[in-house]
Amino acid sequence: MVNVLEVKDLCKTYIVNKRQNNVLKNISFSIAEGEMVAIMGPSGSGKSTLLYTVSGMDSITAGRVCFRGKEYNRMSQKELADMRLKEMGFLFQRMYMLKNLSVLDNIILPAYQAERSPKKRRQLLQRGKDLMRKLGIIDIADNDINEISGGQLQRACICRSLINNPGIVFADEPTGALNRSASDEVMDELAKINREGTTIMLVTHNVKVAARCSRIMYLVDGNIQGEYNFSNNDSEMKLSERERLLNNWLLERNW
Ligand SMILES: Nc1ncnc2c1ncn2[C@@H]1O[C@H](COP(=O)(O)OP(=O)(O)O)[C@@H](O)[C@H]1O
Ligand SMILES: [Mg+2]
Repeated sequence: MVNVLEVKDLCKTYIVNKRQNNVLKNISFSIAEGEMVAIMGPSGSGKSTLLYTVSGMDSITAGRVCFRGKEYNRMSQKELADMRLKEMGFLFQRMYMLKNLSVLDNIILPAYQAERSPKKRRQLLQRGKDLMRKLGIIDIADNDINEISGGQLQRACICRSLINNPGIVFADEPTGALNRSASDEVMDELAKINREGTTIMLVTHNVKVAARCSRIMYLVDGNIQGEYNFSNNDSEMKLSERERLLNNWLLERNW
């Protein structure tokens, strides 16, 4: 399998009031095309920081990160921003969409603005609609953002994250603000997208969410303390059984 993301000896230090906080300490891992990886760990262990540094949203203090063979240290801010827009998708716990714009317009807006050619813009509009249909929200394409539920909003955000057919989707607690049934629906969609080939790296506190991933990395105090892999034959296993296995593993880590 081809590695989409390669991280070697990544360190991230924040300096606040002249005090150094070493949030990530020599982290190395890679993610292969088609994987769905969850980052778990206690609050404050550096999960969000890890996601932001490996996605090029935040700078790294030491080490190196490569996405599709491109090393961030060798890229300009403009090149990084371009790569994020065109080749990566992002999902967050609280999603921001513009009020007074329709759901469909919100989904295509960032990609649309970056595109000059009318033909490509028409294709984006079509892709936006296709994605909405696929995620079961085509009926609300013309609705205002204020008129839709939390689950619908998060599904719209998934459409937006996929608009440029990204090589990877980064998600920070994508179901953190949803109730259980909306969370299940959103995870069903993410798992489906992953089965269709999109690589996903997500942060979650939720064992149920993590149990859908192929690999779980457990972060403690800026180090990867352990990794749980569901083997290939586990994929047929019922979700409840996967949850039980993962729960046991997490309990051994004082989860
Ligand atoms: N922008 C920032 N500036 C300074 N410190 C930060 C910043 N972002 C995160 N931190 C610090 O980094 C540590 C890890 O935070 P975070 O990555 O958000 O953890 P998690 O997502 O696991 O809860 C915390 O001590 C936090 O205070
Ligand atoms: Mg966080």
